[in-house]
Amino acid sequence: MEAEAGITGIRRRLQEAGQEQLLRFWEDLEPAGREALLGELRQLDPRELREHCLWAQLAYKQESSAPQRPDHSMSPVPPAFLGSVSRSQQGELCAWEEEGFHQISQNKVAVLLLAGGQGTRLGVSYPKGMYSVGLPSGKTLYQIQAERILRVQQLAKDKYSTKCTVPWYIMTSEFTLYPTQKFFEENNFFGLERSDVIMFEQRMIPAVGFDGKAVLERKDKLAMAPDGNGGLYRALTDNQVLQDMERRGIAYIHVYCVDNILVKMADPVFIGFCVSKGADCGAKVVEKAYPSEPVGVVCQVDGIYQVVEYSEISQETAEKRNPDGSLVYSTGNICNHFFTLEFLKTVATTLEPLLGYHIAIKKVPYVSKEGIQLKPSRPNAIKMEKFVFDVFQFAKKFVAFEVLREDEFSPLKNADSANKDTRTTARRAILWQHYRWIRKAGGRLIDVNGCQVVANYGFSETEDPPAVCEISPLVSYFGEGLGSYVKNKAFSSPFVLDPEKAKELLV
Ligand code: UD1
Repeated sequence: MEAEAGITGIRRRLQEAGQEQLLRFWEDLEPAGREALLGELRQLDPRELREHCLWAQLAYKQESSAPQRPDHSMSPVPPAFLGSVSRSQQGELCAWEEEGFHQISQNKVAVLLLAGGQGTRLGVSYPKGMYSVGLPSGKTLYQIQAERILRVQQLAKDKYSTKCTVPWYIMTSEFTLYPTQKFFEENNFFGLERSDVIMFEQRMIPAVGFDGKAVLERKDKLAMAPDGNGGLYRALTDNQVLQDMERRGIAYIHVYCVDNILVKMADPVFIGFCVSKGADCGAKVVEKAYPSEPVGVVCQVDGIYQVVEYSEISQETAEKRNPDGSLVYSTGNICNHFFTLEFLKTVATTLEPLLGYHIAIKKVPYVSKEGIQLKPSRPNAIKMEKFVFDVFQFAKKFVAFEVLREDEFSPLKNADSANKDTRTTARRAILWQHYRWIRKAGGRLIDVNGCQVVANYGFSETEDPPAVCEISPLVSYFGEGLGSYVKNKAFSSPFVLDPEKAKELLV
């Protein structure tokens, strides 16, 4: 009955938007289906829907006839705005780290996770953060991240003798909110205060067919997708997240993506670097491994900072080299960003509508005009997304900070059948890191054959380390403090250094 009452207004709104086809199967639907469809349609503003569909179709036509290439307007990040771990003096790095810890100790730093993606390439049906790459401890990405927060809070507390909190904001989507909430509940928030873990949801927007019409996935359901990781800015407003940050006294936010197993949560060096430079917006980068590596490049286009995705530049530009042989566009984006709260407020309240959409042509399951549900074998629809880094253009002062790939970047993107960015490469990256830490701290490792490990190399994507050791983030965040547990001691592979083992080793 209720659905019947609501349908007239909705029909009129859809006519205004030129999208009446969304009610094509109304007569076939049971009451529950009608309610569900109306629920979705009520959320759509007719003017926005109309513009959205027209824009998608136009962008698609333009992209297919004359793709826009920014190649000729690009220039690299000027050296004065590019910091680097490898090119800085130890003293400078320590000063930035100190500054970062100082800000953390003042409870001014928050981390914000972008976790609304569908993880299509990885091919799992649950949120990527719940994925375990097969470490001896079996920890998932979420657990590793939670424990890094606990550790960085502890380190700041030890330094400044004050209770420190780094709140964790998690942006989810319709696909990931419920399972993520449930997972955190079941795991008792991994030891974090539950009030300091704030989950919120980004918006979903309709997929559009090449004819400019929104697609029905079922007779009673639109084909919807999250509005991209740049949906963050609307989601911050929709969910009053910035007010929550303000109430807590947060001034700096470290935004990162879920899939990098080496992510340094609330990284004091990065925070300290950005704060010391007076930046309102910053990005961590790694040197690109090879010209066609599928990472975006942080650069300027017509003098304005942005990230140019790997798919948007020609091979020739990607391969350009400096006289010393290094790549001209080497600053690979690792989706680790720094924002001041003031900057986020300006973006969310006034500048967000200026952010353009990027289009992706996808295979979207749909229901045909005859009412048959189909899975297309070829791309049939346009999905539109905003990108988180598109706000760099609004920064008063933007800086980039280059970090070492083997220490900070190993993303989990693909199923193991791929040869890159898989569960295996992510597991190797972390095990090699811990292997290096133990060796550096003076520990000896015995391999599975009982032989002491003597190899002096420290990283390989294609081979496992000679001995397996895993260090809990609760014991060490970036390799610090391990000497007191491991110096001059020998450990058999596989070795797991968790808080209990650490206690034993101190006795
Ligand atoms: C991203 C970067 C790319 C960078 C690469 C490094 C963007 C747009 N691109 O590419 O420049 O080189 O990481 O690994 O940032 N997400 C949402 N909501 C969405 C879509 C995505 O929260 O609607 C989240 C994902 O859950 C993920 C992150 O955003 O945590 C990155 O998204 P993804 O689409 O995987 O971007 P990449 O192609 O990996």
